[in-house]
Amino acid sequence: MTLRYLPNAGRLYGPDFARDPQAVYAALRRQHGAVAPVEIAPGIEAHLVIGYQAAVDVLTNAGGVWSKNTSDWKVRLPDTPEAAAMIGMLGYRPNALFSDGAEHARYRRVISDCFGLIQPHKLRQMVIEISDSLIARFAAKGEADLAGDFARPIPLRIFNLLFGRPDSDSADLIEALSAMMEADGEAGARGTEAYGRYIGELIQAKYARRGDDLTSWFIDHPAGLDHEELVQTFVLVIAAAYEPTSSLISNTISRMVSDDRYYSSLTNGALSTYDALMEAVRVEPAMANYGPYVVRHPVHFHGTWIQPAELVLVSYAAANTEPAHVPEELRSDGGAYLGFGAGPHRCPASDPAMLIAMTAIERLTSHLCDLELTVPREELVWRPGPFHRSLAHLPVRFTPIRPDQPGESPWAVQPPSSSTLSAPISPARSAGYVTSAPWSS
Ligand code: HEM
Repeated sequence: MTLRYLPNAGRLYGPDFARDPQAVYAALRRQHGAVAPVEIAPGIEAHLVIGYQAAVDVLTNAGGVWSKNTSDWKVRLPDTPEAAAMIGMLGYRPNALFSDGAEHARYRRVISDCFGLIQPHKLRQMVIEISDSLIARFAAKGEADLAGDFARPIPLRIFNLLFGRPDSDSADLIEALSAMMEADGEAGARGTEAYGRYIGELIQAKYARRGDDLTSWFIDHPAGLDHEELVQTFVLVIAAAYEPTSSLISNTISRMVSDDRYYSSLTNGALSTYDALMEAVRVEPAMANYGPYVVRHPVHFHGTWIQPAELVLVSYAAANTEPAHVPEELRSDGGAYLGFGAGPHRCPASDPAMLIAMTAIERLTSHLCDLELTVPREELVWRPGPFHRSLAHLPVRFTPIRPDQPGESPWAVQPPSSSTLSAPISPARSAGYVTSAPWSS
């Protein structure tokens, strides 16, 4: 793509962006309006959609000009490690995120049908048990890094069970996914490669031996995805499940423990966990800028000419916080915000994601009711990367609690045993969390 914008482009990488992305969006808004030129890595340019109405127009495919198929963009990239890392995140793949129309509907149906088999009350019970077992590990210490000790392991443990993988895989998976999301040159490209290997092994294991788990349901779904389609669907769904859910949890907790309206809610109910979640989805959406689109023909869009094969990214974070769109009062219903996207590609798993985050946070705050940050919120360290808003660490302190304290403790409910977690066929089934798919024999 042309580099005509570069002198004016905002940078979505580097420590300044990670520290204060809203300052970058505000400067871009002042200079360019609803659509701004950005670099997502050195020399790799995109149009960032930062106006709320412009974002809705793209997401709902107003005028029928928008497409998710980024194949043409990909072939024009330079042969550099930065470009390879970006291809991992943005290059066309035969899955729901990068397809349109009937192709998209087919891929998406597999995801919606399979996630629809997870019963909310059983998922909630799973989150309670896993949260309690994690809280039990640090509750007596009086301090914790709630990003590493709580928010990251929660989706990992839950989705390992649901996808039918043992917890022994976790470290490799976290490392590969983090490198991919941070999309930083060679490390990002290596992360993409390692993640591809992980997915390949996951599918091979389930080809060999099916269980009552998401992986087997995807394989056997009547839509009949072929091997490559399955691989690319898992690449999307596993990354989408682990990374943003963990960021949603830590971003929300960081708001609750640093804002009196929430802090007091831990004891007197001023604003609820749900309010905090909605505020995080609005102001710091986990998938901050990960809305890749291209146009089918040249368009003049909210003041900017966009050519086919130029990359367009919807900034959910900037659109949600556009001053003209933001009401003065915090709304409990969250308003018409875009933290889970909108239109045909809206997150198909926002309900389970919210249920997981809400249950985990309520469990945490009901056990540890005087959580406080050990540093001012402005000093928290955020992970680099153009696409996400995710805390590197969330250091807190609290009054230690012990198993022998009166009242309910995190030890009252036993987590699934490690043998259950690593059972070969159907750990989620044997723990009573899922039943079989109607299409399995
Ligand atoms: C249970 C965990 C999650 C799963 C399995 C999941 C899965 C997915 C999938 C498969 C898509 C692509 C849908 C399509 O293109 O038709 C998607 C889109 C999206 N998800 Fe999620 N997601 C999860 C959690 C989250 C969370 C926590 C957030 C942010 C708070 C989020 C934000 C989004 C957004 C913004 C999109 C739209 C992307 C676009 O417009 O291209 N997701 N999600």
